[in-house]
Amino acid sequence: MRLFSSVNDVQDVDALAKEALALKASPFAYQQLGKNKTICLVFLNPSLRTRLSTQKAAQNLGMNVIVLNIDKEGWALELQDGAVMNGTSVEHIKDAAAVMGEYADIIGLRSFPGLKDRDEDYSEAIFNKFVKYCNVPVVSLESATRHPLQSLADLVTIEEFKTKLRPKVVLTWAPHIKALPQAVPNSFAEWMCKANVDFVITHPEGYELNRDFTQGATITNDQDEALIDADFVYVKNWSAYELYGKVLPGNDDWMLTLDKLKATNNAKVMHCLPVRRNVELSDEVLDSESSVVIHEAGNRVWAAQAVLKQMLESL
Ligand code: CP
Repeated sequence: MRLFSSVNDVQDVDALAKEALALKASPFAYQQLGKNKTICLVFLNPSLRTRLSTQKAAQNLGMNVIVLNIDKEGWALELQDGAVMNGTSVEHIKDAAAVMGEYADIIGLRSFPGLKDRDEDYSEAIFNKFVKYCNVPVVSLESATRHPLQSLADLVTIEEFKTKLRPKVVLTWAPHIKALPQAVPNSFAEWMCKANVDFVITHPEGYELNRDFTQGATITNDQDEALIDADFVYVKNWSAYELYGKVLPGNDDWMLTLDKLKATNNAKVMHCLPVRRNVELSDEVLDSESSVVIHEAGNRVWAAQAVLKQMLESL
């Protein structure tokens, strides 16, 4: 594997989830694989889980790790091809990416969307330029439209907790005070559409996701109906795709509560974190036995380790 940017870069989704679980059972079985290899984790945006879990995963495989918060510690990047760089930008992304490729065997990159220009965000311009110019394998640490390491960890978590061969998994929109990207729900949707689950998406009117990510999902605006007999409820806010990047008024009653969970099949509640308590998800749910959000975050290590292992094997 030389690129991990979406589910489409994975040959066998179930096999990769099983590999993650095998690594969870034996974290240090492949310490020689990454010996004398370096991963450079490049962040244009903040992170807690992705940064720490990917670093730990790489170290478990024996790799050296460099972390660069390029937005704070690097030169201001120019992203436009052909730009006359007589303004505030100091270094072109084509030079910065190429140089980082000289120092690393694998690069991880986080590049959030601006949420202003949908075409620009959905073209993944920054991520794709990095891939083009760095000349080494690249793993997405969350791009403008997808968060595949999160989705793999989510699939691993479902595998661990499921009590039937084909569980019902519901992705429900949740309220938030800020405009958030669609990367997590897009990605979760496209991974669930390839997994052996009954997948339902529920959201208020106006929060339809790009259909490219939801092929095969059942989609409804009726949250109560969607929750009936759910085995897993994945809670996430996202801003509108049609009215791009907008937070639409109302919908505060979409926050998941213990009362709403009564309709489910004793569902496990998932969230990628960070979560705004009592806005997106209530304390009573997050602190209940139904919540698996901390376990889910722990699985980020094994998801990253499975992907890095496959990348190291292809070097
Ligand atoms: N879920 C997730 O990606 O967390 P961070 O943004 O903290 O990395």
